[in-house]
Amino acid sequence: MRVLVLQGPNLQALGKREPAVYGTLTLQDIVQQLEVEAASLGVVLTHLQSNHEGALIDALHRLDDEFDGCILNAGAFTHTSVALRDAIASQRTPVIEVHLSNIFARESFRHHSMIAPVCRGSISGLGALSYVLALRALTRLTSGTRVPPSPKG
Ligand code: DQA
Repeated sequence: MRVLVLQGPNLQALGKREPAVYGTLTLQDIVQQLEVEAASLGVVLTHLQSNHEGALIDALHRLDDEFDGCILNAGAFTHTSVALRDAIASQRTPVIEVHLSNIFARESFRHHSMIAPVCRGSISGLGALSYVLALRALTRLTSGTRVPPSPKG
């Protein structure tokens, strides 16, 4: 099983960025935790972080051809981007929306997610655990839906 872990704007600065909100783990720390979980689940991860909406959209359009699932932290684009929403909706591959912080406990402009309605599910507020749980969920959601060996490897 192949999973794309897609990180949106400003997430490269985790660890330094508003640690009271996002914690002190760096993006690399989160990637390492996920890789340990992925190894135990037999999942191959591809990681991409971009501050550019178009790069995220391009990656989402590769989902059906290259991946079995996607974990997406769209950062601030979560709250603004119809284009990201449309890209997710164009694919059949399940996408799980994740957030480190609890977006519903923060400013009101963060309470609405443009992408939630087209995602398979959403996990918010659990820090790095949001990603780990999303990965476990994807393995459960896709088990039995694909006849091995997977055409995607
Ligand atoms: C975030 C929450 C967003 O509101 C914010 O813009 C981010 C990070 C999170 O992981 O908690 O950049 O997606």
